[in-house]
Amino acid sequence: MIDKISTEFISKNIIEFIQDDNIELTWLSNFDSKKYDKFLIFIDNNVNDIWGDKLLNQLKVHNKEIYLKVVESTEKTKSISFFPEAIGFLESNKCSRFDLVFAIGGGIVLDMVGFIVSTYMRGIPLFMIPTTLIGQTDASTAGKTCFNTKNSKNLLGTFYYPEIVYNNINFLFTNSNRYLRQGLSESFKYGLLNSPVLINKLLEFKNSNDTNILKDIINLTIKSRIAIRQIDALASNLGHTFGHAIEKFSCYKILHGDAISAGTVMALHYAVHIGIMHEEIKDNILTLMKDLGLNLYIDKRVKADKLINLMLLDKKSSSTLLHLVLIKNISEPYKEKGRLFCKALPEKVKSFLDNFLDKYEYRISSCYKFLEKDDINYIERK
Ligand SMILES: NC(=O)c1ccc[n+]([C@@H]2O[C@H](COP(=O)([O-])OP(=O)(O)OC[C@H]3O[C@@H](n4cnc5c(N)ncnc54)[C@H](O)[C@@H]3O)[C@@H](O)[C@H]2O)c1
Repeated sequence: MIDKISTEFISKNIIEFIQDDNIELTWLSNFDSKKYDKFLIFIDNNVNDIWGDKLLNQLKVHNKEIYLKVVESTEKTKSISFFPEAIGFLESNKCSRFDLVFAIGGGIVLDMVGFIVSTYMRGIPLFMIPTTLIGQTDASTAGKTCFNTKNSKNLLGTFYYPEIVYNNINFLFTNSNRYLRQGLSESFKYGLLNSPVLINKLLEFKNSNDTNILKDIINLTIKSRIAIRQIDALASNLGHTFGHAIEKFSCYKILHGDAISAGTVMALHYAVHIGIMHEEIKDNILTLMKDLGLNLYIDKRVKADKLINLMLLDKKSSSTLLHLVLIKNISEPYKEKGRLFCKALPEKVKSFLDNFLDKYEYRISSCYKFLEKDDINYIERK
């Protein structure tokens, strides 16, 4: 006889997002820290140089022991090789479940520390202080933690949620416009998925550079991000299957947001190719991207077969099919059998890519160098 017992475990994850504009960061000296014994801090090296003293001075007010680990954050260091070093830091400082771990930095530090904290003692309290736009709007909002592997972007990961996220707009002003563009690219993606209002805000910001509009963008993106996360953990990946492959192919010389913009261009053309989007909708979206100064360029070295091999390693793909997040129009995600993925044969996508790459007008040979600039001017054409 076979007995079967089934159950459903439900865990409630509540994140408190603090949105601040006080340049002294004084909120950090006031939050309720009674339940924590000590603070263990992972901080991005560049953020530490600029903001380290101010952050520490506020946290010292809590009168706890504080341990600090400065982290060099690049896509190459966002690797499992960092894991033993980070665990060693926690263990040697006798970190327990009654302590609070801080992740302070951009998306890279948040992804890595999220992963580490989710596995140490099966999860200990986490406080995120994102210091880039991608960090504030995306990497801190949906509990996705990641490490890259040798061949794939973000392949290792867990779902784990911080208790508190402290966003301060002033952090963004010491980060270059090139990194702001990476965040605007992700916000635009959320606009495409479910928020025309967000797209309008992005256009307003581009034309005014008004800090208050940037705050609105952050709030709207977080809300959009949370709404999508509640539907499907992977549904936010518009342009990401193509984009991660572009990022990896460039050995991360093309930054995440720029790669996702280029991946979105491919996803839009693919949606037209398979007949789920009208050509003029695609053209309108590309014009919006250009107006917003997002990346439309694709390097001439990018080849269809190489991209397909990388795309098959994407965590959404099966061993034989690519799973692509697509839209039919702004705020109209494409659904297939109730799921937000289009399943595609790699040969079919390869043949599309061969043709697309051959004709696409914004292919340039100096793409990596070109995208190092703070602003993109659409001057170079094929
Ligand atoms: N987990 C998720 O849901 C999620 C979502 C989106 C992106 N990501 C990941 O986020 C990463 C990209 O994040 P990012 O764009 O924040 O890059 P990043 O973490 O590399 O930071 C960008 C650069 O800016 C520096 N920096 C950070 N804050 C600064 C500040 N306030 N002043 C001066 N310099 C500062 C950093 O040292 C770094 O050189 C990618 O690895 C991507 O995969 C994760």
